Amino acid sequence: MFITLEGPDGSGKTSQIPPLAEALRAAGYDLLVTREPGGTPIGDEVRQVIMDLKHKGQMHPTTEILLFQASRAQLVNEVIRPALAAGKVVLCDRYADSTLAYQGYGHQTDLDTLRRIVGFATGGLTPDLTLLLDIEAEAGLRRRASDSGQWNRMDAYQLEFHQRVRAGYHALAAAEPGRWAVVNADRAPEDIQAELQRIVLERLEGR
Ligand code: TYD
Repeated sequence: MFITLEGPDGSGKTSQIPPLAEALRAAGYDLLVTREPGGTPIGDEVRQVIMDLKHKGQMHPTTEILLFQASRAQLVNEVIRPALAAGKVVLCDRYADSTLAYQGYGHQTDLDTLRRIVGFATGGLTPDLTLLLDIEAEAGLRRRASDSGQWNRMDAYQLEFHQRVRAGYHALAAAEPGRWAVVNADRAPEDIQAELQRIVLERLEGR
C-alpha cells in the first residue's frame, strides 16, 4: 500500500510523519518512510540544486518542473517500487500531487502537460491513499514564519500563490474522493495525529 502526505507549506506535515510511522510499526506493519524531493542519493543532490537555485531566483520554471520529476523518477524506481513489491507499506512526504498543486495550480503551468510529464516520471504509479493536511494559506505561512522568522519575506504575491496551491489541493481531492482524505491541520498536533492514525489504520485493516 502506497500512502502519500500532501499539504501547503506550514501544514505541519513533516512533523506528523515520525509519530504516524511509529504507530504503524507498532501495529505490525512493515513500513518504509521517504520524502520528496530527495529520498535517494541522486534525488538528494537534485533537491540541493532545486533549493539553491530557487533562492537565487535563477531557475527557469521548466527546469524546476523537470528536476522535481528527475528526483521523483529515481525515488520511484530505486525505493518505492521495490518496497511495494516486497509487500511493504510506503509512506511518502509529498509526491506527484505536489507538482500539480504547486507548479500547476500555484504557478499556473498547464495541468494536462504536467500530468503527462508526471506520468512519465512515475511510470503511472499512483498512491492508494493521499492524506491532505489542510490549512488556510495565511495560517500556514504564519506558522512556518514563527518557526523560521521568514514572515518578513512573505508578500502579497506569496500569499496568493499559496492560496492557489491550497485551492488546487481541494480540486485534486474533489476529483478523486476515493483516494484522498482531507484532514483539518489548523488544530492541536495531537488531534491531527489521532485522525491520521485512524484513517490510515482503517484503510490498512480494510485491505
Ligand atoms: P521542503 O523543504 O521539503 O518543504 P515541506 O516540508 O513543505 O515539504 O520543500 C519542498 C518545497 O518544494 C515545498 O515548498 C513544495 C515544493 N515542491 C514543488 O513545488 N513541487 C514538487 O513536485 C515537490 C515535490 C515539492
